[in-house]
Amino acid sequence: MSIPAARPSPSDRSAAGNAAANEASPPLLSVEGLRVEFPTRHGTLLALDDVSFTIGPGEVLGVVGESGAGKSLTGAAIIGLLEPPGRIAGGEIRLSGRRLDDLPASAMRKIRGREIGAIFQDPLTSLNPLYTVGRQLVETIREHLPLSGAQARERAIELLNATGIPAAETRIDHYPHQFSGGMRQRVVIALALAADPKLVVADEPTTALDVSIQAQIITLLKTLCREQGTAVMLITHDMGVIAETADRVAVMYAGRIAEIGPVAELIHRPKHPYTIGLMGSIPSVVDERERLTQIDGAMPRLNAIPSGCAFNPRCPQVMPVCRERRPELIDTGSSRAACWLHDASVAGTAAARAAAVEDDAAVLREPAKPAEHATASGRPQ
Ligand SMILES: Nc1ncnc2c1ncn2[C@@H]1O[C@H](COP(=O)(O)OP(=O)(O)OP(=O)(O)O)[C@@H](O)[C@H]1O
Ligand code: SF4
Ligand SMILES: [Mg+2]
Repeated sequence: MSIPAARPSPSDRSAAGNAAANEASPPLLSVEGLRVEFPTRHGTLLALDDVSFTIGPGEVLGVVGESGAGKSLTGAAIIGLLEPPGRIAGGEIRLSGRRLDDLPASAMRKIRGREIGAIFQDPLTSLNPLYTVGRQLVETIREHLPLSGAQARERAIELLNATGIPAAETRIDHYPHQFSGGMRQRVVIALALAADPKLVVADEPTTALDVSIQAQIITLLKTLCREQGTAVMLITHDMGVIAETADRVAVMYAGRIAEIGPVAELIHRPKHPYTIGLMGSIPSVVDERERLTQIDGAMPRLNAIPSGCAFNPRCPQVMPVCRERRPELIDTGSSRAACWLHDASVAGTAAARAAAVEDDAAVLREPAKPAEHATASGRPQ
């Protein structure tokens, strides 16, 4: 199961290998101070505020957070598909050093497909019902790679084979409605990888699929991207998928990054109280009832984001400073957390409280059982 590379392919990397490579290599994707806003008749709503992160070559960054956290908007801003009136109002997005956020739509269209592949929740969003999947694959391949029609068709068949479509030589001439949901998403993965992009943005790629095939599709995506050295921004509610797939994780809350760091660190030693709440929603074999916690309250609406730390009304560790000043991302060792508990200038009470947070987190230190996924919203899947 592998796709013939259109560019030199790095050797198959383990997650640990990727993490090590990322420290040495410059970021493939760099998002710096991203702001996205929606102008409305009642004023401007700030949907993403100062979102900054990087993704290294071949790295899988999981992006998690409850509904409305800003995950899809972040992905849409990167691939240049923000729906108006949403607009980038500040910050920079760079791919291999090249600025993307100020490119005209025509230039961005070329980058989409060739350098960045996209996979959405509903495979039908990416497929034209009027054309065979082969025609769509061949068109995408020929738009981005210097191949003849026959060569492109050959590559299309190889791609369908690689994504596990049986009888690809025949199925290539079928229309999207002739495929099941899972098979359609395999076709979409083939389309996203057709031109051997450097980055794939996958937004809830399995949420619309039958539970029984979700793990297969994620494994397929992960395997193919590892083989090709393709980096992935994997947006999901599913903490089990993150535990299984990601190298690093960004936790989003109310349009901001609450915590970002290596996956093992965030799962076993989460630093931000919101991450601790999210990780508490991963079921455990040891004592499922005790660990399956819910975070009280709900994600704020864009027109009612609390001042200071946006999580403060829901936070069990809240301090007076949390309501007054917004915490920046603070280095906590292996990860960074936007929480006053980890700020030395709020030391004393903060240090004691941070120790309490560590104690809370200690109960989460056992790995999640992948077969028993829970969602970021606490909904079992
Ligand atoms: N077109 C729009 N107009 C106004 N607000 C919007 C629009 N699109 C998104 N938003 C708001 O932006 C915020 C972030 O939305 P986004 O779709 O990125 O959330 P998400 O984290 O992907 O959530 P989900 O898990 O439900 O997909 C939400 O509060 C949402 O209501
Ligand atoms: S800054 Fe304060 S309110 Fe926000 S997560 Fe940290 S302790 Fe809780
Ligand atoms: Mg979304």
